[in-house]
Amino acid sequence: MKTIGILTSGGDAPGMNAAIRAIVRTAHVKGLTVYGIQRGYQGLIDGRVAEMGPRDVSGIINKGGTILRTARCKAFLEAEGRREAAQTLAHHGIEGLAVIGGDGSYRGAHDLYTEYGVPCIGVPGTIDNDIGGTDYTIGYDTALNTALDAIDKIRDTADSHERLFFVEVMGRHSGYLAMMCGVAGGAEAVLVPEYPPDYDALVASLRKGAELGKRSAIVVVAEGAATATEAARAVSEHSEFTDSRVVVIGHLQRGGVPTASDRILASRLGNAAVDVLLEGEEDKMVGWEGKEVLLRPISTAWEQKMKFHESMKDLAHTLAS
Ligand code: F6P
Repeated sequence: MKTIGILTSGGDAPGMNAAIRAIVRTAHVKGLTVYGIQRGYQGLIDGRVAEMGPRDVSGIINKGGTILRTARCKAFLEAEGRREAAQTLAHHGIEGLAVIGGDGSYRGAHDLYTEYGVPCIGVPGTIDNDIGGTDYTIGYDTALNTALDAIDKIRDTADSHERLFFVEVMGRHSGYLAMMCGVAGGAEAVLVPEYPPDYDALVASLRKGAELGKRSAIVVVAEGAATATEAARAVSEHSEFTDSRVVVIGHLQRGGVPTASDRILASRLGNAAVDVLLEGEEDKMVGWEGKEVLLRPISTAWEQKMKFHESMKDLAHTLAS
């Protein structure tokens, strides 16, 4: 293999730039030509491809977002889109592809491999930490810390005014990010999509907290469980907690300077992606499990979706007493 391509796809995540840097520089050291593909699979369809060298990735390890930009590409879900994408790869002599993204992006890579035999390696990049085959995804740690910073600030004002807040965090269909925000932020309760919201139980626990002398309460709501507004409304309809406030952290979690953990994870996984492409691997993902980089079939990402441990739910509940 002499030439590889890189793309970032789906929602951006802090640390994607560190992964791009690791891939470009590792490839350079190994004597490979690297092409950066802009706007994810859309750029592959449109032929937005440019060669990258080690100086093109200078000064990006500490930058959020992705210099390659990203997209959620509907055209690539169609056979015609994938045919055009494969043509672009062939045109530039790209023999292997590193795809930085989440499980949706991996499915695209899998299709490209199955239909056109393009060796693809997935590098996990999403704030949601919701895919199998890795303990952590690039961007999750930064997003967690961003949300935590917001929750800490909300606690200050919640305490001062003796108020109840509903704080909505991202995570798509997964409650992992929300649950960890709740545990780390000392939330009184966490609503996650893995369990249907039980507003009677939530009201009971808010009442218990008030009886125990709590002056404020924060309920973290995973966007996949409910909106924070829906949760606030449901609680107010069932109880005396009618004067709450709602905060949606939203896309703030997707930006910002990547944490050290995300930069190191991205550097390791980006480096490994090039190594395994050179070893002839295809249709795989690199992940971080335990204390090492491991290689798994790319389908692991969607077949073994990451779940938060039941014990974290119990921990959040116990520590909210
Ligand atoms: O997958 C990352 C993520 O931020 C999810 O947490 C969220 O549901 C989604 O992307 C939002 O996507 P968009 O920016 O396209 O609205």
